[in-house]
Amino acid sequence: MNTLIICDSEFGNTYRIAEAIAEVMGRVGPVRLLRAGEFGPGALEGVNLVLVGGPTHRHTISKRLKAVLKSMPRKALRGVPVAAFDTRYRMPRWKSGSAASVAARKLRSRGGRQIVPPESFFVAAREGPLEDGEIEWAREWAASIIIRLGVR
Ligand SMILES: Cc1cc2nc3c(=O)[nH]c(=O)nc-3n(C[C@H](O)[C@H](O)[C@H](O)COP(=O)(O)O)c2cc1C
Repeated sequence: MNTLIICDSEFGNTYRIAEAIAEVMGRVGPVRLLRAGEFGPGALEGVNLVLVGGPTHRHTISKRLKAVLKSMPRKALRGVPVAAFDTRYRMPRWKSGSAASVAARKLRSRGGRQIVPPESFFVAAREGPLEDGEIEWAREWAASIIIRLGVR
């Protein structure tokens, strides 16, 4: 499996989650972890799993992540397994909003095949830190994707 992870992060918390996910995906194939500003559509070439993560800003995705998803050509992800994650405050999703839900919708609109529901990891405050156990949970989430895809 050739995995591309695209991550935006203002204070580093989402990036830490992305690194933990990257480490697990690295067990089943090459992984590229790009910051939002580094992404260009060429990065999708030869990729067969795309994971996108970012912080929840004003109930939705950050401007940088929005720009990334906008720059993906309409059918760029046709049939490609995709999943999205975010960081946000621990409160009901309708109250906090969730960048992952928005990102997942945009990935699907570009033809991506969502393989697991959008997932959230929680920060204790605006600049972090992540709540205890979130890095471990991110590793488990990544492992669940591997199982879901039936990769050995
Ligand atoms: C401008 C701004 C708006 C935010 N709005 C929300 C919000 O609507 N809901 C929420 O749960 N968290 C919100 N947060 C908190 C972010 O989710 C938090 O800063 C983020 O998870 C930290 O991740 P990062 O270190 O990767 O940037 C906001 C943070 C900023 C800076």
